[in-house]
Amino acid sequence: MDGTAFLGSPEALRATARQPRSRPKGRAVDADALALVNQLIGPAPPEGHPRDQLIEHLHRLNDHQNGLRDTHLVALAQVMCLSVAEVFEVASFYHHFEILRDGAAAPGLTVRVCDGLSCQLAGAAMMLADLQARLPALLGRDDVRVVPAPCVGRCEQAPAVQVGQWPLGAATTEQVAALAAQAPARFDDAPWELPAASQACVASDPIGFAAYREQGGYALAAAVANGERSASAVIEALEHAGLRGLGGAGFPAGRKWRIVRDQPAPDERRAAPSESPPSGGGPARSAGSGGGNERRAAPSESPPSGGAARGQGAENSWR
Ligand code: FES
Repeated sequence: MDGTAFLGSPEALRATARQPRSRPKGRAVDADALALVNQLIGPAPPEGHPRDQLIEHLHRLNDHQNGLRDTHLVALAQVMCLSVAEVFEVASFYHHFEILRDGAAAPGLTVRVCDGLSCQLAGAAMMLADLQARLPALLGRDDVRVVPAPCVGRCEQAPAVQVGQWPLGAATTEQVAALAAQAPARFDDAPWELPAASQACVASDPIGFAAYREQGGYALAAAVANGERSASAVIEALEHAGLRGLGGAGFPAGRKWRIVRDQPAPDERRAAPSESPPSGGGPARSAGSGGGNERRAAPSESPPSGGAARGQGAENSWR
């Protein structure tokens, strides 16, 4: 049998391709999943659900089910008029979310042990192994998952652990078990206040800006801003060091700093604590309306990664 006989004539194939689909391309939306998504994220405003609420909505779904079911991601994509690929891309990028495929059971509790560099140096690998071996027995339940996670933004409190949505710095196995014992069945039922065991580690005697400067902090940044050191030489050193971002894209830090430095003033930079968008890597820029440079960093952003000092026509606090 030749191919034409099997597939039909080219004209017949073209006619078939032009026929309207009986249902949308891709996965069909499950009615129950759609109802739950609408219940959790609420009605859409007249202009539709804003795209920038996607992470918020993912958190609502994740906290309600201790994970993200693929049927709900498909429903969320439809409700937000996004492609399913976009929703999966964001959901699978962040360690906060756990995608449950094909009806997989949701864990009762997920404990994430940071395996970033600072935490590795503080013994995170041993803690991960210890928690995986002992935590279910310590809690008397077997629905607890202990998994590694990328940097959770508490490098100064290494080793850092996330018990559900609750952070724990300078963690020990026993402290993790004590905090996990207080965890609710679902984190959308959790009280807004962090439990005391988690709060105790949030303020771990941080050093203030003035004290940091007195100890030599930002000396290089000050030298660059004062014209005593060349900004280009610093950027070149960064480029040769091969330092890369840890946000997922692995963008070369030196190239990023050079791109920022090459932009005309005025500029405004903002840094979010530990999240960068999946497509990201570059510092967020927006056209500021005022003159001069403005930099803002969220509290847990480590100062040296906040951006290269420009030292071009900007009044700053280095002098
Ligand atoms: S490396 Fe563990 S919190 Fe950053």
